[in-house]
Amino acid sequence: MKVKHVNVTEVGPRDGFQSEKTILKTEDKIKIINNLIKAGFPRIEVSSFVSPKAIPQLSDAELILNKVNRSPNTILAALVPNARGALRAVESKIDEIVVFLSASESHNKKNVNRSVKDSLLGFKEIADIAGKNNTPIQGDIATAFGCPFEGNISSKKLADISKEYKEMGFRGVTLGDTTGMATPPVVTQAINAIRDKVPDFEITLHFHNTRGIGLANVMTGLDQGISNYESCFGGMGGCPFAPNATGNICTEDLIYLLHEMDIKTGIDLAQTISIAQNVENLVGHRLPGQVMRAGHRLLSYSMDDVPTAIGA
Ligand code: COA
Ligand code: ZN
Repeated sequence: MKVKHVNVTEVGPRDGFQSEKTILKTEDKIKIINNLIKAGFPRIEVSSFVSPKAIPQLSDAELILNKVNRSPNTILAALVPNARGALRAVESKIDEIVVFLSASESHNKKNVNRSVKDSLLGFKEIADIAGKNNTPIQGDIATAFGCPFEGNISSKKLADISKEYKEMGFRGVTLGDTTGMATPPVVTQAINAIRDKVPDFEITLHFHNTRGIGLANVMTGLDQGISNYESCFGGMGGCPFAPNATGNICTEDLIYLLHEMDIKTGIDLAQTISIAQNVENLVGHRLPGQVMRAGHRLLSYSMDDVPTAIGA
């Protein structure tokens, strides 16, 4: 089944900014999100309604949602860890709540200070609040392709959690590769296990490029017919509660690849590159993105700008 259109979620304002020491000004974040909406992103993770003690970088979620220029073409989503976060999110008129747990007990404990079972119990409370407000829920599974403390994650576990998500009425499941441990065979196994156990449940893939094969994993996802991917401008991103967590796959690099393969995204690549360059200026250090530096492959240069090796 050939994928012809991909839905790209920009997670930069959440995954990107949570991993950055510098806390950006709220007004700068709002401008970036407005530009992402203009560039045509169908879905953006704009922030998290988590404890500001856990992630101080994202303590301005309400302010952002109050002021951002919403569009009917873009879903604004945010992470919610508990009932308190759900109340904050619906009060801010979030379009979609994203709940999250880790496939591994140890990372779940580090990240949200509870067992996986307690996370799932807590999601029922969140689902009640969301249901009363007609707010859809997406269920993330962090450390889905491997845990930095526990190693391999069984694909059965991913399928079991996905089944619980479906039973709670969630829109779909996102498999998060928190520390870039996914490889093509691991990705294929996870997709097959979920499809076998929970047919017709939408799968989204969220890769980090920690070991340099993020886009190879996307190619595997495409081969398997998956059409939802998450990525971050400039390749920023990472979980502060996992060792060696580095950036997400880079949005501009992903969009460039997809468009070259004649897969539509509805997103403007040039505008996306300029957003990444702007974020790089704001954070004040080099981001790992590559297309934001090299440009499109057909970008041509003047011969006068390059020395001739011999005989000039
Ligand atoms: N919004 C704002 N504040 C919150 C909150 C929320 N959703 N949930 C809890 N808090 C506050 C509490 O009021 C308390 O503050 P206090 O110390 O001033 O009283 C503090 O945070 C701790 O709350 P508690 O209920 O005891 O939770 P905890 O210490 O067991 O932490 C979480 C649990 C889930 C709140 C916390 O671990 C968290 O926010 N994790 C998010 C991690 C994350 O976003 N990781 C990156 C994404 S993968
Ligand atoms: Zn991530």
